[in-house]
Amino acid sequence: MSKDLVIVVVDFPTLDLFAGAGGLSQGMASAGLTVVGASEMDNDALETYKSSHLSRLPQSSLELFEGDVGRHSFRSLKGEIAVVAGGPPCQPYSLGGLRRGVADDRDGIPQFVRVVSEVMPEAFLMENVPGLARGTQLPVLKRAIEKFRELGFLVTWKILHAADFGVSQRRQRLFVVGTRKSNFKWPKPTHGADTSRAWVAAREVLDASRPIGDLNNAIITYAKSPDLRPSPWDGHLWNGGGRPINPDGLVPTLLASMGGNKTPWLDGGNIVPDYHAYLLAGGAPRRGIVAGARRLTYQEAAMVQGFSLDMSWCGGRSSIYRQIGNAVPVPLAKAVGSALVKAMARTEDSIKPRGLAVL
Ligand SMILES: C[S@@+](CC[C@H](N)C(=O)[O-])C[C@H]1O[C@@H](n2cnc3c(N)ncnc32)[C@H](O)[C@@H]1O
Repeated sequence: MSKDLVIVVVDFPTLDLFAGAGGLSQGMASAGLTVVGASEMDNDALETYKSSHLSRLPQSSLELFEGDVGRHSFRSLKGEIAVVAGGPPCQPYSLGGLRRGVADDRDGIPQFVRVVSEVMPEAFLMENVPGLARGTQLPVLKRAIEKFRELGFLVTWKILHAADFGVSQRRQRLFVVGTRKSNFKWPKPTHGADTSRAWVAAREVLDASRPIGDLNNAIITYAKSPDLRPSPWDGHLWNGGGRPINPDGLVPTLLASMGGNKTPWLDGGNIVPDYHAYLLAGGAPRRGIVAGARRLTYQEAAMVQGFSLDMSWCGGRSSIYRQIGNAVPVPLAKAVGSALVKAMARTEDSIKPRGLAVL
């Protein structure tokens, strides 16, 4: 005689602070977290976020906290939110900036801590750049962790590589996770060393001869004084910050500043290895445009970040590239979100079941 299988359906209402275009939100949603609120101050990102959320989850309600997150109180959400997530901007700590830290208006980490303290969720997930754990920025991370611990969270942090989770990109991100119980386990890589699958090569995602989307017209030109490295794909043989993409390797990190000559490019003319060998052999630098080369379209950049092609991007071209470059790759967000869901599902006593299904 077969027994009824009872499944307790748990729901994890989630708030995404600094939501951007929604890479983190989309990954968390596909991991089973229900994004019910988002804060964002950039109008274009907000429009992108709204339209993608509405097209994906037309039935679900979403509370938007528009404008500066610092102007909103989140106290009314106490007891309603299981997870507070978000990727605060890191410019105040960036080596390239003025390094005014918490005195900088753009500093998002204290705001993230404040919202966690107001909402007191079951767990939180904060994402940032690996640089936050290095050198003079480390005390900022340590201070935030100390505050989370004072709020009663068990805190752990780790730098994860997006390529280990099936993203064909050199992109590392730092995640800080806080839970009420110590059962959070970091997701195991699905690709790369010690797994059965290799990193996804750029050629599996991109084709130089078949552009997808709106062509990017920023040209690629030979550098007057090339800087040679052992690999043809490194160094500066070309003008601009955008690197050539090795079809057998990973796409270089997609930056928020891409759009113009910082956009990585595809070597449609098969020029890169030959030109590198030619220079190594003492050849004189060439001048002019690199034949057959083209930069990634924003649709291709979005694809590399794990967004689906039907995303509707709002704003001008550079704003769209910025939203894409700012995002957490969707598969990476999904991996961390799934690990959090597993940890929370194990702490049944702390989660309110929202429904019951008998199969
Ligand atoms: C690193 S991006 C977040 C990317 C997002 N997590 C994703 O995966 O797509 C940081 C975002 O925070 C927003 N932001 C910066 N300062 C803010 C503030 N004070 N209030 C609200 N949003 C802010 C920026 O406009 C930007 O979209």
